[in-house]
Amino acid sequence: MNAFNAGPLCSARIRGLGALRVSDTILETEGLTKEFRGFVAVSDVRLQVKRGTIHGLIGPNGAGKTTCFNLLTKFLPPTRGVIRYDGRDITAMKPAEVARLGLVRSFQISAVFPHMTVLENVRLALQRARGDSFDFWRSESVLARFDDRARDLIADVGLTGYETLTAGQLPYGRKRALEIATTLALDPTMLLLDEPTAGMTHEDVARIMALVQRVAQGRTVLLVEHNLTVVSGLCDTITVLTRGRVLAEGDYAAVSANPEVQAAYLGTDPGISGGTTPGASTHA
Ligand SMILES: Nc1ncnc2c1ncn2[C@@H]1O[C@H](COP(=O)(O)OP(=O)(O)OP(=O)(O)O)[C@@H](O)[C@H]1O
Ligand SMILES: [Mg+2]
Repeated sequence: MNAFNAGPLCSARIRGLGALRVSDTILETEGLTKEFRGFVAVSDVRLQVKRGTIHGLIGPNGAGKTTCFNLLTKFLPPTRGVIRYDGRDITAMKPAEVARLGLVRSFQISAVFPHMTVLENVRLALQRARGDSFDFWRSESVLARFDDRARDLIADVGLTGYETLTAGQLPYGRKRALEIATTLALDPTMLLLDEPTAGMTHEDVARIMALVQRVAQGRTVLLVEHNLTVVSGLCDTITVLTRGRVLAEGDYAAVSANPEVQAAYLGTDPGISGGTTPGASTHA
């Protein structure tokens, strides 16, 4: 049997999913390729993400990580290849359809409005997740219904006490937490995070790491991240991309010991044994 068709059934060892018998692989791609006018940004990528894990996608600047995210969430059509999510072929789907299936990229549909408060932002995200029209006329009466759930989400991302501040008043790290809260409002099964700690202070990085770990409970997370301390601390499996291709895959110990991976990082990083690749603070 082609593993791509069904995937093995297994007992989920994974976070919060108990002993459900579910397909082991939630997201997989085969031959995923994206060309921009002849330039191959993503080349024949085979990715398999196990349900309930935190899967890292790393690689030097320009490796094709964000393009992969754009392909997976259907923001870009692939030139070639197949994407399967939760047993379905989603290759031809539209971004909103994929999001409805629970595959959601942070900052995708939910947006954070700087002049609205933290509470208003999360309430609005909940309303939009429900599919209600974007109707400010009846905002107060209708949105008030979402208060309890909004406060729960705000607590989940560690923003209790910040409810009445506008998003624009939040420190940077807290703003990313708010963005994650508005993403969680969509109730994702699988969350894609592109450099959630980019441009953050050491303290904020630690807070976001803890937050990612918390939101990964009962979910799958695909994480693009330059900060290798974050990668080693969070990721169960890591796929290394260079020049659009998969160079290596495994846990952190395996990929960091891989000479090809080390070579790919040479010249851009003192080593993959820790620290941060350049550009980590340039993608805010
Ligand atoms: N819309 C586009 N048109 C043409 N080239 C593109 C487009 N989007 C991305 N590219 C190119 O594809 C390559 C991969 O870019 P991508 O943004 O996916 O890399 P990345 O791994 O996310 O890099 P970074 O770590 O810097 O964020 C780069 O060479 C980039 O210039
Ligand atoms: Mg990128």
